[in-house]
Formats: sequence, C-alpha cells, structure tokens
Amino acid sequence: MPLYNEDHDGLAAPEQVTAFRRSIIESDGIVIVMPEYNHGIPGVLKNALDWASRPFGKSSLTGKPVLAISISPAFTGGVRAQAQLNETLLAIQAVPVPAPQVVIGSIASKIEDGLFVDEPSANFALGAIDRLLDRCRVMPTAYV
Ligand SMILES: Cc1cc2nc3c(=O)[nH]c(=O)nc-3n(C[C@H](O)[C@H](O)[C@H](O)COP(=O)(O)O)c2cc1C
Repeated sequence: MPLYNEDHDGLAAPEQVTAFRRSIIESDGIVIVMPEYNHGIPGVLKNALDWASRPFGKSSLTGKPVLAISISPAFTGGVRAQAQLNETLLAIQAVPVPAPQVVIGSIASKIEDGLFVDEPSANFALGAIDRLLDRCRVMPTAYV
C-alpha cells in the first residue's frame, strides 16, 4: 500500500486499500504478527493501520477483536512494540484481546530448518488464539 495521504483517500482510495479494508470488515477478528523496529511497530504496519483507521468514525477496525504477537531475535521479543500498537488500536477503538501478551523472544534459537520448534511458545500463542476466538464468538462482526 502507498504511504497514507488524505488527499488520496475517500472515493479516490487506492484499490488495494479498499480490498484491505474490506478484508477486515469481513473478518470476525484480526491477528497481527510483527517484529519490533527501534522499540516501536514497523512503519509499514503503522501505515496499514492508518489506512484502516479511515473513514474517521467508520473504521473497519472499530470494535474488532485484535490479537498481537511480536517476535524478535532479542530476548525482549518486541514487547515495546506491543505497547505502541495498543496505543494505536486504542485510537482506532479496536478491541485488543485481554490476555497475556504473546511475546516470542530469541527467535533464532526457536527455528530449525525453517520451522518453529519451541513448543511452550507455540502453546502459549495457541492459547491466545483460543481467547481471540472466544472473543469473536461473543461479538461476531463479520457479515460474510
Ligand atoms: C531497522 C530495524 C530495527 C530493529 N529494531 C529492533 C528493536 O528495537 N527491538 C528488537 O527486538 N528487534 C529489532 N530489530 C530486529 C527485528 O526484530 C528483526 O530483524 C525481525 O524480527 C526480523 O523479521 P523477519 O525475519 O520477518 O524479517 C530491528 C530490525 C531492524 C531492521
């Protein structure tokens, strides 16, 4: 997606932005999996959320349950990006899934032959996915 520009939004919104917004509308819940860049969320993710946040007051993300998973080579696992993401989700009035944050650190030691092999981390993340699904059942928002 291009960088957000309000002059290119509204009826003139790029096709990929319209498709992105539609895919969010048609979802009961969202999983965001991200690395951490300089203690924050990657710029491309922020840009995507900025597009999703409009039209003002009618964002496809408003009221939508969102689960965040951060992954990093550092042992801190992207925990600072999680805090920043929550701020943005709050602004959009999305609904972060109330659960222990899924923060997967030291990722290099948890991958073998391209596969994620750390069972405790995988189980922890799957538990959070279950909580997201529970939340989606309580407040289904998709209209497909
Ligand atoms: C510009 C840049 C900044 C980064 N800053 C952080 C950081 O603040 N904290 C952290 O844990 N990892 C940081 N990293 C490491 C990223 O988490 C790591 O590159 C990422 O997990 C790799 O994801 P990929 O394999 O999907 O490309 C940074 C990486 C880049 C390129």
